[in-house]
Amino acid sequence: MKNLVLGLLLFSTILSACQQKAEDTAGHATNMANTAYYTEPHRPQYHFTPEKMWMNDPNGLVFFEGEYHLFYQHYPKANVWGPMHWGHAVSRDLVHWEHLPIALYPDSLGLIFSGSAVVDWNYTSGFGDNGKPSLVAIFTHHLMEGEKAGRTDYQYQSIAFSNDRGRTWTKYKGNPVIPNTQKIKDFRDPKVFWDRDSKQWVMVFAAYDHVKLWGSPDLKNWKHLSDWGKEWGTHGGVWECPDLFPMTVEGTGEKKWVLLQSLNPGGVNGGSGTQYFVGNFDGKNFKLDPGFSPSVAGGKAVWLDWGPDNYAGVTWSDVPKTDGRRLFIGWMSNWLYGMVVPTEAWRSAMTLPRQLILKKTTTGPSLFSQPVKELETLRSKSYAGENQALEGEMDLTDKLGFSSPLIEIKLEFELPEGTKTDVGIALSNIKGEEYRVGFDAAKNEFYSDRTKAGKADFSDKFAAKRYTAPRVANSKTLRLHLFFDVASCELFADDGGVVMTNIFFPTEDFSQYRLYSTMGQVKVTRLSAYQLTRAFSQ
Ligand code: FRU
Repeated sequence: MKNLVLGLLLFSTILSACQQKAEDTAGHATNMANTAYYTEPHRPQYHFTPEKMWMNDPNGLVFFEGEYHLFYQHYPKANVWGPMHWGHAVSRDLVHWEHLPIALYPDSLGLIFSGSAVVDWNYTSGFGDNGKPSLVAIFTHHLMEGEKAGRTDYQYQSIAFSNDRGRTWTKYKGNPVIPNTQKIKDFRDPKVFWDRDSKQWVMVFAAYDHVKLWGSPDLKNWKHLSDWGKEWGTHGGVWECPDLFPMTVEGTGEKKWVLLQSLNPGGVNGGSGTQYFVGNFDGKNFKLDPGFSPSVAGGKAVWLDWGPDNYAGVTWSDVPKTDGRRLFIGWMSNWLYGMVVPTEAWRSAMTLPRQLILKKTTTGPSLFSQPVKELETLRSKSYAGENQALEGEMDLTDKLGFSSPLIEIKLEFELPEGTKTDVGIALSNIKGEEYRVGFDAAKNEFYSDRTKAGKADFSDKFAAKRYTAPRVANSKTLRLHLFFDVASCELFADDGGVVMTNIFFPTEDFSQYRLYSTMGQVKVTRLSAYQLTRAFSQ
């Protein structure tokens, strides 16, 4: 009798999973045929957004057989967070994305929280078939029933594999591969990599106020290596979504390890934010680099991005050696207001994909972020100018000869000695809404100001203040590289040494652009602008 009930239960679960899958695939096809595809108000036109409903963290970033995979935290039934699945998309160039059916559905062990994916090149797991290595996804199962019952061991790490380029997935029968025997409530977000030196898989995941490192020969059997982080960095909130990877310091050949660590709340702007650490990893322990910002010992953070809208970002696994880049993408939102931003059909976008570069600076090894070069393929109309004097305001709309909410602008200013001016760019629309991004020389800080940029009544946290970031470089030449896409601005200042990511929701698209210098003349040594094309066609 028991077996019959179990059998029926299993059959109906499989049936409903199949039906769900069929519905998703059908929905996908209908949307692709719709000419209004992807054109709702506030829909970014060259940033990744889910076709419909809710999205948060990027997951399972892996490159395999010419495709960049982007899985993501997804609730397919509503535009707010709910029972988590892994949504899925692939791209051959990091710019144009193809939506694929949902990859991982919740099961009896729980919802599918954040995690990573790797290519098992050496068949260590035994999952591969036909001489083809498998993709293996490593994720957290979150058992809602356990949480509701007041237990503390409801998060644990599990795996699934795919032998058809990520199109279908099979969960491992021996899940979970790391049970939560320590009963730590926040025990999640595994990021896995193959460590060539210690010849093992290494998993880093977050456990409330620190990261745990575990090692495995085969992705199935894991043993604890070490814990790190309780005494380091900032702890204004729960640590989530870590990433650990080696990098060569640009121009030196020196190898260091970078640990990205998101936390919520406690970010630089109060809500969600991502700090990072530079150190060394010896196959067992992570140790901070002695030259890396000493203030992290006193509980301070070094931020990856100073804007409010770059969270839970991690890097792609298995990018070919011939490419050699460390590629990153983050969720372009913030838990302070992510669930109430004014969009309906879908909710939230990813940041632009970025290349991370480790550079030696006067303040120690620092991470620089740059937009990936593939984005240049979106450039259409362009403008290039040199050596123009700027005092007060300069209208750009006529000068450029094009006007679009999709624009990339590269600005280079030469600042006079001792200047106290405020230089930057203002975007506005016929409704009088305005967004400003620039540099305040008197305070030596970059800023981004969306306090008057349109809709904000959905959250009192959204437009409460202007965001600032201290300038580290001290050269007279100031470089701002900016990307605007309907509802967002990404600033890469001083060659990516300072990054600020912001979203905004003007009631009409921003189509007017002005440069300004508020106190005295500055020289705009270079101004390049490009109208960008949308990345989605049918
Ligand atoms: C980060 C996070 C992760 C978790 C996921 C759940 O935004 O809270 O820690 O796995 O979102 O959707």
